[in-house]
Amino acid sequence: MILNNKKIVLGITGGIAAYKAIELARLFIKNGAEVWPVMTKAAANFITPLSLQTVARNPVSQDMFDLSQESKISHIDLSEKADLVVVVPATANIIGKVACGIADDLLTTVIMATKAPVLFAPAMNSNMYENKIVQHNIERLRKIGYCFIGPDEGDLACGYEGKGRLAPHEDIVDAAEECLAPKDLKGQKVLVTAGPTREAIDPVRFISNPSSGKMGYAIAKAARRRGAEVVLVSGPSYLQHPRGVAFIKTITAEEMAEAAMRHYPQSTVVIMAAAVSDYRPKISHRKKVKKEEARLNIEVERTQDILKELGNKKRGQFLVGFALETEDILANARKKLKEKKLDLIVANDPTGFDGEVTQVTVIDGEGGVEALPPLPKSEVAERILDKVVRAMKG
Ligand code: CTP
Repeated sequence: MILNNKKIVLGITGGIAAYKAIELARLFIKNGAEVWPVMTKAAANFITPLSLQTVARNPVSQDMFDLSQESKISHIDLSEKADLVVVVPATANIIGKVACGIADDLLTTVIMATKAPVLFAPAMNSNMYENKIVQHNIERLRKIGYCFIGPDEGDLACGYEGKGRLAPHEDIVDAAEECLAPKDLKGQKVLVTAGPTREAIDPVRFISNPSSGKMGYAIAKAARRRGAEVVLVSGPSYLQHPRGVAFIKTITAEEMAEAAMRHYPQSTVVIMAAAVSDYRPKISHRKKVKKEEARLNIEVERTQDILKELGNKKRGQFLVGFALETEDILANARKKLKEKKLDLIVANDPTGFDGEVTQVTVIDGEGGVEALPPLPKSEVAERILDKVVRAMKG
């Protein structure tokens, strides 16, 4: 968990979306972070320090020149203790002030004094957001290393519809993690497959499996946070497309194979987390099969083993496979590692298929074996990527 024990100075400015900062503070804390809120004068028109303090569990700082407050937590204190500063909502005003080097209140002073990364989550009227001065200020800040998330398009509080809505909380948390993640996959092109495939029996029935895609999606997100360019080839999944990732939607093993092969030559790392169906019906009926017969025999044929094909066509790519086993886990995983010419294999059993937590054993090309404890899939994704980075360096 990247945010675990991290100190986040949460700057809240005077926009209607200020009330959303309270829920965001809760989410940061849920992810293990400490939240130190700083409110501008205008923010106090929208939310009260009391509600913020209750959720954040830390004092809310508001005034630079309030001696009693400054003696408890000074602006220098805040700027030094911060691992990250997040400004939510970031109005045109605060973006403009920071871009021009103005530090005339507590929040702008903390931003000026800190060496920590600063993430802005803009929210404002769409005309304001599109204003050339605002765009120029954002561009200028981006160029010198400030981070931005959003805004999104949609209904705005001012009655307009357009670009200006605060990004969803989950995206802000994800962007905060990105600010703090090591960029050890920068320059790498990572191809990830995820989810199940579906092989049609007829227009309303198919052969598939209960894979949710959570593991592959977690890997794609983590690789992007660590600086990689990521292509995610996904089978049918109810999960949201991860932001900042090129997304290819597929249904059958054949479509997944085609997409994976197309992106393979330019990839440097491939992580095949998809639960590809090994069989498909030999005949896929164009019309619904009626239940006239007492028995129905479906003849099946093998689908292509995508990973084996990738292994055979390997040109320097670092290849990671998964092994889903119900018995002789290690022996079977080792066999797949060798047969599919992999650099790393992640063995698991089906108990973690659709859950948030999974227990895996990672086996590398040198025969090294590490059994990880049961962990959230987001954490397992980080551990797998740690191993990829270490092995590639080696
Ligand atoms: N895989 C693949 N194409 C297939 C089947 C599997 O690319 N048609 C990949 C999976 O994405 C996984 C690895 O191969 O990374 C191992 O998959 P798994 O289902 O554990 O094993 P199989 O190779 O299908 O062998 P078996 O079902 O006999 O265990």
